[in-house]
Amino acid sequence: MKRYGRITGWGKAVPERILTNHDLEGMIDTSDEWIVTRTGIRERHIAGPGETSATMSVEACQKALAHAGVDPEEVDLIIVATSTPDYLCPPVSSMVQDQLGATHAAAFTLVAGCTGFVYGLVTASQFIETGLYKKVLVVGVETLSPGVDWTDRTTCVIFGDGGAAVLLEASDQPTGILSCELGSQGKDWDALIYPGGGCAKPFSEKVLRNREHYLRMDGRRVFKFAARTMTDSVTNVVKASGLTWDDIELIIPHQANARIIELAARRLGVPMEKVMVNIDRYGNTSAASIPLALCEAVEEGRLEPGDHVVFVGFGAGLTWAAAVLHWQPEEAIRAEDWPLPASLFRPVTQVRNAVWSTQVAARARLQDAAMAAMAPINAWQRRIRGG
Ligand code: UT7
Repeated sequence: MKRYGRITGWGKAVPERILTNHDLEGMIDTSDEWIVTRTGIRERHIAGPGETSATMSVEACQKALAHAGVDPEEVDLIIVATSTPDYLCPPVSSMVQDQLGATHAAAFTLVAGCTGFVYGLVTASQFIETGLYKKVLVVGVETLSPGVDWTDRTTCVIFGDGGAAVLLEASDQPTGILSCELGSQGKDWDALIYPGGGCAKPFSEKVLRNREHYLRMDGRRVFKFAARTMTDSVTNVVKASGLTWDDIELIIPHQANARIIELAARRLGVPMEKVMVNIDRYGNTSAASIPLALCEAVEEGRLEPGDHVVFVGFGAGLTWAAAVLHWQPEEAIRAEDWPLPASLFRPVTQVRNAVWSTQVAARARLQDAAMAAMAPINAWQRRIRGG
């Protein structure tokens, strides 16, 4: 029997601390007006003491599992997409597995820059389609703030911290990823780079003096690449899925720059109402941005069961990835099994979907409140463990 990877749970975790453009005006030579018009960003979340890629991943995974009603011990695999792990070694995915109590899960960290989450989602789907695994967690997470040069106005205004996760479960109903494209333009590997601190240029006093341990970006080069690959890859995956543009309810792009997103949407001929944008509140959270935007789209009722959504990411490498996904978090009601007059099928499905959206939004608020209430206890436990 053919298997499909269905997203059945999702959850996000962002630091409480917010840094606004006005805060940045007091730190460097910039302005709210420049940042908003050039990027669309108004504020971003910044990790506080004790908040790391591991802690945000664990919180996001716990929410995704709670949503799906799955225990951590049932998880077969955890993929954490990030460029900002807690340590270079061990893989942060192992810390997540431990702290989650996912004792039976394999775990690995996937590094593909801002494209990492889509690479991870496609990889997870393959494991499910081959029949090897039944439940896979995919996380996109970044704690970029410690690696950003807060004296460099060309990068520090852009990035933010956060994480989000989805749970994929095996299903025999056709759903999940319908088509995908993964790519890499390795000749531009140096366009987005931490120049020092790796084995090519190990950490040293010189690296520190030259500030080479901080992230550097050739913004214009990445901008051109991003606008082109976003347009081309979305066109390719929609075509490969066999769907038409009218069948696509939502595009969720990597939130790198509102201008890139608007430019690509214009080139694709897609109205902005069909494009998810939340960069104003999060900045560019790299591998976390697509799953964060997905969580918000579901909470806002912008995705209904049965919809088709396109994910598209681009970033360091330079890499890109796009996928068309059939969004069906619950078993679908099939028209052929419908016991009542056929004319009632559509309105009843619409009511069911509206109730579903309200319940999802309410549950997300409740989870956020519960996690916020637990935060001081978790911090206290971490301090005790660390000390
Ligand atoms: O997530 C991974 C993928 N990343 C991306 O996709 C990022 C792609 N690139 C971008 O989003 C844009 O290139 C940036 C937002 C990074 C920069 O925007 P831009 O419109 O390309 O600006 P620019 O680099 O061409 O700079 C224009 C001017 C320069 O001044 P001069 O030389 O014209 O006098 C910069 O020095 O803006 C200046 N500038 C700033 N001014 C105020 C650069 N950063 C700032 C700043 N505040 N923060």
